[in-house]
Amino acid sequence: MVDTPPRSKSGLTTRDNLTTLQTHILAEEQKYPEASGTFSWILSALALSAKVIADKMRRARIHDVLGSLDSDNVQGERQQKLDVIANEILLRCLGTRSGVAIVASEEDENPTLIQRETGGERPYCVLFDPLDGSSNLDTCGTVGTIFSILRHDRRAQSPEASILQKGTEQAAAGYMLYGSSTVFVLTTGTGVSMFVLDPSIGSFLLVQQNVRIPAAGKTYSVNEGNRQSFPQGYQRYLDWAQSNGYSSRYSGAMVADVHRILLRGGVFLYPPTKKSPEGKLRQLYEVNPMAMIIEQAGGKAVSGTTRVLESQPKALHQRIACCMGSPDEVDHVVRHLG
Ligand code: AHG
Ligand code: MN
Ligand code: MN
Repeated sequence: MVDTPPRSKSGLTTRDNLTTLQTHILAEEQKYPEASGTFSWILSALALSAKVIADKMRRARIHDVLGSLDSDNVQGERQQKLDVIANEILLRCLGTRSGVAIVASEEDENPTLIQRETGGERPYCVLFDPLDGSSNLDTCGTVGTIFSILRHDRRAQSPEASILQKGTEQAAAGYMLYGSSTVFVLTTGTGVSMFVLDPSIGSFLLVQQNVRIPAAGKTYSVNEGNRQSFPQGYQRYLDWAQSNGYSSRYSGAMVADVHRILLRGGVFLYPPTKKSPEGKLRQLYEVNPMAMIIEQAGGKAVSGTTRVLESQPKALHQRIACCMGSPDEVDHVVRHLG
């Protein structure tokens, strides 16, 4: 028999309660008696960062912080003013939290050791891409923030050694999308939850629990301008997809493209190119966290024919080719690679 909770006069049931991100995390932690609350501290810092970044972005044109700086980041990419601002916001929010041992960012050459252990609890590393798709900013396009949370390896010889963990080791991962609304998507390894910022009360509210990616969806998302420099297998896949009625959707922000695929189905690809033979996207703070979300929602994420999350990273800014999305669509790509 189905257990139906009683309805109030308004027609709502007790299951229609409003749940904030913070309430959700606290409730999750209660399931694990050994949990210390550290996790909720870290996630609340990420939620605060997202609110501040979203606010800065909405006012960017007015406050004249669009456009690029005269500096490149360590990867030789021109930094946008907001890349630097978002990075500073994350560092300021995370740097004061007692559960954070190390932070590492796309915008910084090396990971930062927040504080050496003094016997207190400093057990997590937080890795992030402060603004993903930042070249979209000047044209009001969608951008996001991506994060990955790893357990701090106390035996590691250096901060970098501690963060060079396979994606399977992630304790949590997620992203914030600054679109027509601000969305926070999170996994702690038991499915995917989605929250939307209600700006009037300043809280992320749970809008969907146990998000599941559609098994298939006839959309591919890839920079087709690079097509001639893709390995042959990807070109065969594109020929096949185009002769089978697929649509193309590509925004230039992985977060936006993968979010659409999470909800609607399809496949996102960033294959190796002649310019970037290992792929362009960074493994630790772009591809691994998005791959964990996709897998936790029932999708697949591969690099060539290998599962992304099982690939061993060798450096903080390591690049990796990737293909992720609906399981059937990833299978279609992989069968053309052989
Ligand atoms: P970032 O803005 O953090 O450097 O990331 C941009 C990434 C990713 O979001 C996007 O999918 C890809 O770069 C776009 O690259 P191309 O312009 O080469 O397609
Ligand atoms: Mn990025
Ligand atoms: Mn970025």
